[in-house]
Amino acid sequence: MDRTLVIIKPDAVQRGLTGRIVSRLEDRGLRILTLRMIRMTQTLAKSLYAVHEGKGFYPGLISYMTSSPVVLMVVEGRRAVDVVRKTMGATDPLEAVPGSIRGDWGLEIGRNLIHGSDSQESAAREIGIFFEEKDLLKYDREVERWVFE
Ligand code: RTP
Ligand code: MG
Repeated sequence: MDRTLVIIKPDAVQRGLTGRIVSRLEDRGLRILTLRMIRMTQTLAKSLYAVHEGKGFYPGLISYMTSSPVVLMVVEGRRAVDVVRKTMGATDPLEAVPGSIRGDWGLEIGRNLIHGSDSQESAAREIGIFFEEKDLLKYDREVERWVFE
């Protein structure tokens, strides 16, 4: 099983989409290991998006991510990184397929509703920015054998 970090971004929280986004991830069968609402600081946002430092969109990205509360989630499942990225849709909502989160609710790349780690290595690094291992709850769900083969 893989783990990945999901962030429901400020625009999605402001638009009241938190519950529906959480539902889509639950509907997919992913197991939520933790879920928490925070106001992202400059330090946290810069650490999360360190790979984008120096790019034209970076200042706007940091200001967007720190503008209002976000919801952090760690989810687990088979190929969770890939599954979450596909459920999110392409970075630019105009390119995201209908049925994906960005494809259903987004129009602008700078208001694209959700973050998901892009590899297992990124996931481990990004989860470590916000959580300690003890924050991630280990439990079984009765439905598991009907989701995982
Ligand atoms: P994320 O990290 O938030 O999950 O998004 P992503 O992998 O799909 O896209 P990434 O390339 O990592 O970019 C991070 C976020 O920066 C904003 N962005 N704006 N104006 C632009 O050209 C541009 N490119 C990226 C988006 O908010 C994107 O999600
Ligand atoms: Mg990314």
